[in-house]
Amino acid sequence: MSSRSSLGLIVSPAKLFSFDGRQLWFRLCLFVGPIVMMCFVEPLPAAERIKCNDAWRFARFGAMPEGGVKDEPDLMEKPGFDDSQWRRLDLPHDWGIEGPFRADLANRTGKLPWAGIGWYRKQLEISPEDKGKRLFLDFDGAMSNTQVWLNGKRVGEWPYGYSSFRLELTDAVDWEGDNVVAVRLDNPPESSRWYPGGGIYRNVWLVKSERLALAHWGVFVSSSEVSKSSAMLDISIEVENRTKVLANPEVSVAFYEIGLSGESIPRKIAYGELDAFKMTRNWSKQVTLSVPVESPQLWSVEEPYLYKAVVTVSQGGEATDTEEVVFGIRNVTFDATNGMLINGEQVKLKGVCLHHDLGPLGAAVNRRAIERQLELLQEMGCNAVRTAHNPPAPELLELCDRMGILVVSEAFDCWAWGKTPNDYGLHFSDWYERDIEAFVKRDRNHPSVILWSSGNEIREQGTASGHEVSMELTRLIKQFDSTRLVTAGCNNPESGMNGFQKTIDVFGYNYKPHLYEKIREINPHVPLYGSETSSTVSSRGEYFFPVKEAGVAGYQNHQVSSYDLYYPRWATTADREFEGQDRNPFVMGEFVWTGFDYLGEPTPYNPDVTNALNFQGSPEATEFMKELQDLGRDAPSRSSYFGIFDLCGFRKDRFYLYQARWRPELAMAHILPHWNWPERIGKVTPVHVYTSGDEAELFLNGESLGRKKVGAYEYRLRWDDVVYQSGELKVVAYKNGEPWAESVMKTSSDAAKLALSVDRSEISADGQDLAFVTVQVSDEKGQIVPRTHNKVKYTIEGPGEIIAVGNGDPTSHESFQATERKVFNGLALVVIRSKVGESGRIRLTADSNGLKSSLITIRTK
Ligand code: GAL
Repeated sequence: MSSRSSLGLIVSPAKLFSFDGRQLWFRLCLFVGPIVMMCFVEPLPAAERIKCNDAWRFARFGAMPEGGVKDEPDLMEKPGFDDSQWRRLDLPHDWGIEGPFRADLANRTGKLPWAGIGWYRKQLEISPEDKGKRLFLDFDGAMSNTQVWLNGKRVGEWPYGYSSFRLELTDAVDWEGDNVVAVRLDNPPESSRWYPGGGIYRNVWLVKSERLALAHWGVFVSSSEVSKSSAMLDISIEVENRTKVLANPEVSVAFYEIGLSGESIPRKIAYGELDAFKMTRNWSKQVTLSVPVESPQLWSVEEPYLYKAVVTVSQGGEATDTEEVVFGIRNVTFDATNGMLINGEQVKLKGVCLHHDLGPLGAAVNRRAIERQLELLQEMGCNAVRTAHNPPAPELLELCDRMGILVVSEAFDCWAWGKTPNDYGLHFSDWYERDIEAFVKRDRNHPSVILWSSGNEIREQGTASGHEVSMELTRLIKQFDSTRLVTAGCNNPESGMNGFQKTIDVFGYNYKPHLYEKIREINPHVPLYGSETSSTVSSRGEYFFPVKEAGVAGYQNHQVSSYDLYYPRWATTADREFEGQDRNPFVMGEFVWTGFDYLGEPTPYNPDVTNALNFQGSPEATEFMKELQDLGRDAPSRSSYFGIFDLCGFRKDRFYLYQARWRPELAMAHILPHWNWPERIGKVTPVHVYTSGDEAELFLNGESLGRKKVGAYEYRLRWDDVVYQSGELKVVAYKNGEPWAESVMKTSSDAAKLALSVDRSEISADGQDLAFVTVQVSDEKGQIVPRTHNKVKYTIEGPGEIIAVGNGDPTSHESFQATERKVFNGLALVVIRSKVGESGRIRLTADSNGLKSSLITIRTK
């Protein structure tokens, strides 16, 4: 095994065994192998990265939550400013989700008061011993227009609310005294097309680093020449010398196997190092190393095998900084003929688009809440996520690496031509270079990231100058990561034909299954996928009659029928998108709009003029806008209807339509609608079945309503003339003529009791972990009573707190932060969070008038 370096040094096997100060330990480990590694872990001086989330003071100014405007006093950045009356809180924090919902606020951003100004202040823990170090504040994300002061001295700003960024504090630090940081955020109205949240909604870190150290996001591990028998690990490392003298750093990298999730003992597999090189003062330098590994375990969707690189900078044998970077060894290629190959095998994208909010929790990041979403998506057979339309929380990518979920990571929803008056379009020209650098450098080590998307439905798609911007973004992205390709989500039908397609590597079409064939003819060499598909709308548990094929027949009472036949004019059904892909197998797959309902954009009850952008000025736009205005006038709707899951993560019918296609090996059948229609006795009530079988027979109260085969380009079985009578619907599905799956839908009896169930009965007592409790209104036999809207009260005892309630009704203006909540069509959700260091039993009781109460216990450890 030998290691090559960019400095022209060859690290020979012999050198690996030469004994040299503190490197001895590494070499020994490599030599004697894994057993020793499992026993010792030598602490190395890493930059200290301290989570800085606790005990901030917070106050709002400008547009206030209840309406009205509060003046912003001067001098709030000064250390002596009296903030003792401000609210005390811990991050991550989203001030918008606290509400209240207001009828006068825009539907498209969730009718929540996220706009306005917020100040956060906190005393940082810096001691005289830190003197001589460099200090930074790292924000994973703050919404938005962040400005930061330390001890009254301005240390920096960052407008884009979705970027992670670092600000240096060093020159403003008082090494002997107190250090007060003040953060001002400003969310202008009309700065988003969806609910953005407001506040420091992701984690903040205080970083203390030596002056000879690894640069921020300066380590990049990739792999080349990947096969099952060997791979080359290519690592580039940026070292910074911020001392006042010449430095002679040495760099070493030890590679460890982490394995699959749950395998916790790392094993060392390779090692490489560079001999000392010269660095002038106040300078940074990039060095590279390539280290071969034998028989690597490749990262894939099925086996997301992970490795770790531990990079150390030292001088004169003394380590000054070290960093751990998790990575995977895999080879992803795209070509027009074979599509996407991962480690040489074709993989179809079974993806969903996700906005960043976490439903009733708002935008405040929570690892478990994201993990739950990803688990639910995997249950459906989903293998990919598009981070619509902005850089995601770091937690999402860490989870996707571990769970084997592919990611198209997206930078922007607009470039210079904004979509709303105060959005990122105002900042693009000044900030795109810094935002792209942060976007790529932060996440380029994640094996889950397969493509970088430079933007969504960019308005400049149609102009020559826009094409130049696109090329510039592609170039810039590759400057920071030459191992991945660039894509974009294109809605302009012309973008596949007017040259825009040549400014990116992989072409993503939004809502164009009818154009897949055409674009292929024009661009036989361009790899193509559906970057945004379907946009079917539905409300969980709502069904409207008579059932018509699309159009406003599916829309009533500000809800949308769940027959999965309804979509806005630019969009289509899941079925038609499937057909587009099946007729054109070169299409690499899709990202459905959307996995989960999200706050804001409650199309069709969303009189948002930006929707007309989908028509690119065609005459249809006027007609469409009128329809939107009619449907949206005075609509209470505040969250989307696009989700396959509702806002609480409850499955809508569409879950089963995708599961049937994406998990063909899973024997399943699903019937819709529910069968509680006393007012429809004797009336035609269509029954649709989603199944992974190819044939099915439907029975109503034991009587066959016929056996049907799934025809070519059909994805559901329909019995459209069923005459309703209460009782039992049963479907028996077949595959290749053999019985495959059965499912039953029964008329329930009257509501009799509440039933509580929880996603995990034990959570960790870390003050972050969550338990998601489902509340169901049941009949005596325990069956859901589907049309119920009972109000339920929740009481909690023990070491946990209710942090959110919800029910998935897109029109509800009840607060998410309450201890009571109506069920919506039989279901509601309570989210419980553990308390730090308090283990024990949490008891949640649910009570509702006229129903038997229910109690559930959750352990925290
Ligand atoms: C697309 C857009 C998405 C969302 C969607 C709704 O055109 O990219 O952000 O607005 O429409 O169908």
